[in-house]
Amino acid sequence: MKTNRKTPIVINGAAFKKLGYRLVDDISDFIDNIEKNPVTTGESPKQLQKIMGTSSLPENGSPAEEILLKASDLLLHHSLLNGHPKFLGYITSSAAPIGALADMLAAAVNPNVGAQILSPIATEIEKQTVKWLAELIGVSPDYGGILVSGGNMANFTAFLAARTVKASKSIKEDGLSNSTEKITVYCSKTTHTWIEKAAVLFGLGTKSIRWIQTNAANKMDNEVLEHTINEDLKNGHKPIMVVGTAGDVSTGAVDDLRAIGSICKTYNLWFHIDGAYGIPAAVIPELKTMFDGIEEADSIALDPHKWLYSPLEAGCTLVKDPNHLIETYSSHPVYYNFDNTGDVPMQNYYEYGLQNSRGFRALKVWLALQQVGRSGYIKMIGEDIQLSRLLFNLAEQHPELEAVTQNLSITTLRYVPSDYPLKNENSESYLNKLNETLLNELQQGGEVFLSNAVINGKYCLRGCIVNFRTSEKDIEEVIEIIAREGKKIHRRTQEKETIK
Ligand SMILES: Cc1ncc(COP(=O)(O)O)c(C=O)c1O
Repeated sequence: MKTNRKTPIVINGAAFKKLGYRLVDDISDFIDNIEKNPVTTGESPKQLQKIMGTSSLPENGSPAEEILLKASDLLLHHSLLNGHPKFLGYITSSAAPIGALADMLAAAVNPNVGAQILSPIATEIEKQTVKWLAELIGVSPDYGGILVSGGNMANFTAFLAARTVKASKSIKEDGLSNSTEKITVYCSKTTHTWIEKAAVLFGLGTKSIRWIQTNAANKMDNEVLEHTINEDLKNGHKPIMVVGTAGDVSTGAVDDLRAIGSICKTYNLWFHIDGAYGIPAAVIPELKTMFDGIEEADSIALDPHKWLYSPLEAGCTLVKDPNHLIETYSSHPVYYNFDNTGDVPMQNYYEYGLQNSRGFRALKVWLALQQVGRSGYIKMIGEDIQLSRLLFNLAEQHPELEAVTQNLSITTLRYVPSDYPLKNENSESYLNKLNETLLNELQQGGEVFLSNAVINGKYCLRGCIVNFRTSEKDIEEVIEIIAREGKKIHRRTQEKETIK
């Protein structure tokens, strides 16, 4: 024990190599053959518990080889595969293989990227990653920021900075409950649900949210926005921030960011952009105008684990003035000795966000940015958009599909049986039910995974392509699958109706 302590958790180099090589072999086969598997097995929680076993906490340990084999069998054969070329659901990317290697390296070294002294090189890599992300989307590389777990956290991190900067400074000591300020925040009706969580969790309450209506293109109506701000000011409210969306979660619409930025300037409000999904598309030269005005943003949320193909988890908050993050999050307990200065001031990431101890999320993003470069992202994101347009066009041409919306890489569509009387009063509710059943069955079936969106009362199937494995052939097959399964469900329902 004095020198050679024996612990049950240690794995020496030779054993690690053997275990690691086996695991890497299995993962490599998985990557090469991913499209031969169903997108999901559709197994129920009960079935999975049976396969896993439900025994209580083991009293004693088991050989690492045995448990790793079991774990890789469970994960590789009983998962929903968001890396499958026909996974087009929600907004989770096919994960770049380099990210898996990066996570292994990051976990092995295990730098704590909360303080620079604890993570000297990892902190430098995170700083460079943040700078590169700013360059990628076309804002000044002087934006600072931090890697976080995903879109919700990236938006929360910015939301709290906005509150610190634009609401009364007394809140920091006295708390919101002692403030008479009636804070309000503004966003379009299509804004992702993070805003509700933020309003509840950070003391503003959901009544502080002004949900601004959208126009026919699903963008925030900026006249209504300005009118609402004016009304609130007249009524003694304290507007603090406007959230513009760059790629809304349902349809991919991008707000008129230039106009929102200018309204924020006029009324001295924080301008935040939720670009968690869509903002990487700003890298495409032909789409630059769609994102005009992003350089005005006080803060931007973007998610490498969405359209930069990073494995979960990787989000990022960018802020024009990084001191606003420090103002919001910094504290200096006596037990932190993190401020020793070397040649440049230390950048301690615990002062930039909600976490203190932090993992090294930046590595996988940093490596992918180098592996493919700006041109690689222009190619992949551009192709995803082309594929989404193909999905829309094929739906438009199909006699039994209705193409509903197409923006960035999101297409919405629905199945409309040709023998169904569309003008009938009940037809919309029938179609909604039919498409909801269709979505549920497709999600369980394993051939394709789509999600849903409700657009002007229409229940639609929604395909979001943030998937470098999807091809034109996949899209053609997805169209066939939707139409075939839609027809089956319609026939089944009609037969039931006749029997009644
Ligand atoms: C526009 C937008 N914002 C925020 C989020 C939340 O991101 P996350 O699920 O990574 O927290 C999403 C998720 O789809 C999104 O599309």
